[in-house]
Amino acid sequence: MKLVLASKNAHKLVEMRDILSQLGVEVVLESDVGVDVDVEETGTTFEENAFLKAHAVMEASGLPAIADDSGLCVDALGGAPGVYSARYGGPELDDAGRYRLLLENLRGQLDRRGKFVSAICCCFPNGDRVEARGECPGTIAYAPMGEGGFGYDPVFFLPGLKKTFAQLTPEEKNAVSHRGAALRAFREKLEVYLKK
Ligand code: IMP
Repeated sequence: MKLVLASKNAHKLVEMRDILSQLGVEVVLESDVGVDVDVEETGTTFEENAFLKAHAVMEASGLPAIADDSGLCVDALGGAPGVYSARYGGPELDDAGRYRLLLENLRGQLDRRGKFVSAICCCFPNGDRVEARGECPGTIAYAPMGEGGFGYDPVFFLPGLKKTFAQLTPEEKNAVSHRGAALRAFREKLEVYLKK
């Protein structure tokens, strides 16, 4: 089965392919099926936004579409940046600008707890939906460390591993990450759905 990933993020494609290839599911990008949909993420929850993205790409392509909406929720900031993680600080900031702003907003803050959340939604042309959620707790480092990954990876520290997400190999990150957890839960649900 072919699933269209409602995203232009190649990092997400790699993470999704790794986990879903075991089910014999082929994940392709919107551009691979000639679709380019710009979806406004107007939802107030990760679940709503994942649905908005998957539904729009399913409608445009006529194929089952999968979307992930994810973000970083920081306790001391009341859950921010949350669903606004990709837009934190405004459109002129890049990934490094966003994590620097986060560090700035946490300056002097000793409570560094936070979690990454990922909500996955798959919409089928017949109206069916398969959804899953994953979380990964950690802390916000005091300074960036590591070169891998994307987004807030250099400042998201895993006390158990004593490393940031950016210091993990893609396989190590998949094993502990919010998206890895959500995708494994999703894979199980999809397996049950496909057997129906
Ligand atoms: P989305 O593409 O709308 O889901 O935006 C999610 C945003 O959350 C990304 O742009 C990143 O800033 C952040 N994010 C989500 N997952 C990760 C991750 O695994 N590592 C680092 N940042 C992430």
